Amino acid sequence: MSHPKIFITRLIPGPGLALVQKHFPNADIWPAEMPPTREQLLAKIRGMDGLLCLLTERIDAELMDAAGPQLKVISSMSVGMDHIDIPAATARGIPVGNTPGVLTDATADQAFALLLAAARRLVEGVDYIRDGKWTTWHPQLLLGADLTGATLGIVGFGRIGQAVAKRAQGFDMQVLYHSPNAEPAYGAQAVDLDTLLRESDFVSINVPLTEKTRHLVNAEFLAKMKPTAVLVNTARGGVLDQTALYNALKSNQIFAAALDVTDPEPLPMDSPLLELKNCIIVPHLGSASYKTRNMMSKLAAENLIAGLKGERLPNCVNVSVYRS
Ligand code: GLV
Repeated sequence: MSHPKIFITRLIPGPGLALVQKHFPNADIWPAEMPPTREQLLAKIRGMDGLLCLLTERIDAELMDAAGPQLKVISSMSVGMDHIDIPAATARGIPVGNTPGVLTDATADQAFALLLAAARRLVEGVDYIRDGKWTTWHPQLLLGADLTGATLGIVGFGRIGQAVAKRAQGFDMQVLYHSPNAEPAYGAQAVDLDTLLRESDFVSINVPLTEKTRHLVNAEFLAKMKPTAVLVNTARGGVLDQTALYNALKSNQIFAAALDVTDPEPLPMDSPLLELKNCIIVPHLGSASYKTRNMMSKLAAENLIAGLKGERLPNCVNVSVYRS
């Protein structure tokens, strides 16, 4: 195939972009800051052989059919795959690529940054000064929670969950995890979810969003946490019921929450969560370091190029396409 047609849904970071353009100088790249709308995407995808997308696009059967039967590969610059209908791609024999591994440390760093920020009330401290309230050092000002000796419960002990556990060791934390079939690592101990919620001072959510994990963090889950506990979510917004979280934070059923992800994204400005001092929310920045985003873009480009050449993708999420 000398001139495959490729659509890239945004200007991805340099290394990936350069790699795609080296192999396919005619790649069609969406230039705008905002992603294409659904209508624009459906129009653009028509006749494409390859698609490189981000987590902002919904890639479903309708879109695959709009592309046409020549669509050879879908490559997403993300580790999460909840925006792609994988069974629909598999049914059409289309390999789907993602970018695991390269963002593990950055995302675990972000979980820890949020954990510390919520524990030590950093955002409240910044606001306190900006609001002109800093008049003296006070022995009771903005007191928070200690990490040393505290228990961290990790829900989802995959690559990122384990990297969170590794960091917790450096803070002398006791680590529990709940994750079907995951082997212990970094001194963490496997427990059932109720035990984890009952015993943890910090709870980090690190599961992918699936039909099983949607609203895993609901009123019942939050009611089992300690009133002094901090919840951190760097996974997907859909794992958490935001109304239940609002109620738990507003009534001080838990101490604080820190969210890297929300549902929907962006979070509407009238979300009641934004009114709460004990809730830190940042705009889905888990992998947002220069080095990590460069590595993600390169891996996404490599998946795309391999798929277009008819080679096995370096990171394929539906390897069963190679059996059929
Ligand atoms: C980020 O959330 C990703 O899935 O890569």
